[in-house]
Amino acid sequence: MHIEDTQARAWWKQAVVYQIYPRSFRDADGDGVGDLRGIAEKLDYLVELGIDIVWLCPVYASPNVDNGYDVADYRAIAPEFGTMADFDHLAREMDARGLKLVMDLVFNHSSDQHEWFRSARASKDSPYRDYYIWRDEPNDWRAVFGGGAWTRNEPTGDWYFHIFAPEQPDLNWENPALRRELYDIMRFWAEKGVAGFRLDVISFISKQPFDRPQTGGIFDFYANGPKVHDYLREMHAEVLEPLGLMTVGEAPGVSAADAPLYVAEERGELDMIFHFDHAGIDRTPEDFWRPAPWKLSDLKEILTRWDRALAGRGWNSLYLGNHDLPRLLSRFGDTGAHREAAAKLFATLLLTLRGTPYIYQGDEIGMINTPFESIAEYRDIVAMNGWADARAGGRDENEFLADHILVSRDHARTPMQWDASSHGGFTSGEPWIRANPDFVSTNVAAALADPESVFHFYRRMIALRKATPALVHGDYVPIDAGNPDVFAYVRTLGDVLLLVVLNVSGMAVDIGDLGRDGTTMIGNYDGRGTLRPFEARVLRMAGEAGEFASPACSMNEVDPAYMGLDRQGGA
Ligand code: NOJ
Repeated sequence: MHIEDTQARAWWKQAVVYQIYPRSFRDADGDGVGDLRGIAEKLDYLVELGIDIVWLCPVYASPNVDNGYDVADYRAIAPEFGTMADFDHLAREMDARGLKLVMDLVFNHSSDQHEWFRSARASKDSPYRDYYIWRDEPNDWRAVFGGGAWTRNEPTGDWYFHIFAPEQPDLNWENPALRRELYDIMRFWAEKGVAGFRLDVISFISKQPFDRPQTGGIFDFYANGPKVHDYLREMHAEVLEPLGLMTVGEAPGVSAADAPLYVAEERGELDMIFHFDHAGIDRTPEDFWRPAPWKLSDLKEILTRWDRALAGRGWNSLYLGNHDLPRLLSRFGDTGAHREAAAKLFATLLLTLRGTPYIYQGDEIGMINTPFESIAEYRDIVAMNGWADARAGGRDENEFLADHILVSRDHARTPMQWDASSHGGFTSGEPWIRANPDFVSTNVAAALADPESVFHFYRRMIALRKATPALVHGDYVPIDAGNPDVFAYVRTLGDVLLLVVLNVSGMAVDIGDLGRDGTTMIGNYDGRGTLRPFEARVLRMAGEAGEFASPACSMNEVDPAYMGLDRQGGA
């Protein structure tokens, strides 16, 4: 298939995104909290890596109940991150380097400290009253961060709705005046040169009828409310399309079958979404904050299902880590003898699938989970509330900690490890959260100095992707889908045929003749033949995708039901 037949080459399809968690990236003023000046100091580092787009987690004024995902003023910079002048400086410095900036918009809810909510809760006559959702009596729906989804408002005696914490009241998208305010906020940032937005929990903005009983997983329940697509189409027509903004919507609860409704190009809604299918792969179905075992075959099936669902219809986003997940090496890879090989293998996976890749800060140097030892070391509201609930339920602290360390969001939020000096060179003060003690050996300075480091592998892998349209736009065909250890696939575009072979295990694996005649484009070991632990290879092959049938790795027929293709219609 030719490129003209597949997708238009929008700039954000060939781009590589880097996600920054500003609180933990680099602290320039020594107060222990990362800041905008700190980010500006490190832009050349991102350019060296080969990044095109930086997504900044929220930097707006916030009481930080949920670290900035509770916004008190959508047009103001939080003082701990700097000033609007610092923001403008950062935007200019990025522009000078050809880096595009994507801001995080938290529009499902505001902070309870936002002036809209302060006014709305004070009186039923407030002009902002209808910006939020009120009922005389609550129903029994649960909140994502624990407890019920309704909180009583003392001044007016009724109840307001919140899918997350009580300090994060949900905005009422039914109200056109509220929607106009939100679009104005988008215009404000676009005028400052922002190239696009990541839209927080955008799948939740339209609420289910309040008489519906809450069943199943909480994300599935709150997602895909009856008007979500009306709202997104309106936002697209009002702001996104006229201003040419890129969007990626965070979309918990959206299945591959429903994804085209959000991102099919002809629908005029969003450019990409982040799905949660692999984010939840090591969690119980009923409770996202409870760990469960995962299998490579499930990861393969999920990533393949998403490629199939969007192929030729919309564009995918690819991520293996973010600020809400433990470190990818600790979840999927190896933190011992094969740590470096595993880090390079997952770089290869992320950068050879179809879609726009999002690298989470620190993954490019192979950061891993932190050995938190007590409740006092955690900072996240999920840990605090989880422990409060566990204690109330009579659970033992050690038992709670043994579970929580496997799911904690704080692993992703420890300071970026710049060098071997105190706190990993993140701050000259006391960091707001402890650094992972492993910064003494895993840090940016060491990685830059070692040509074989994980960082330089990411850099080479990004450069290869940019030089190889088949890696961006090519068709994806899985090989030997049932293999429990090896993740293998081909990417094809025109007469270019690339084979990616990944041994996602700590054992050597015989792959017979697979790839024997290929030319290695990149790999994390030298040589061919039997795969070593966590070995990754990308090979250029002669021939056609359909020829990839060998006794060791035979191309599996894909069962349509298994791939979710049976529900693909409806766009
Ligand atoms: C998703 C964000 O990524 C997460 O960090 C936040 O806690 C929730 N949305 C609520 O805004």
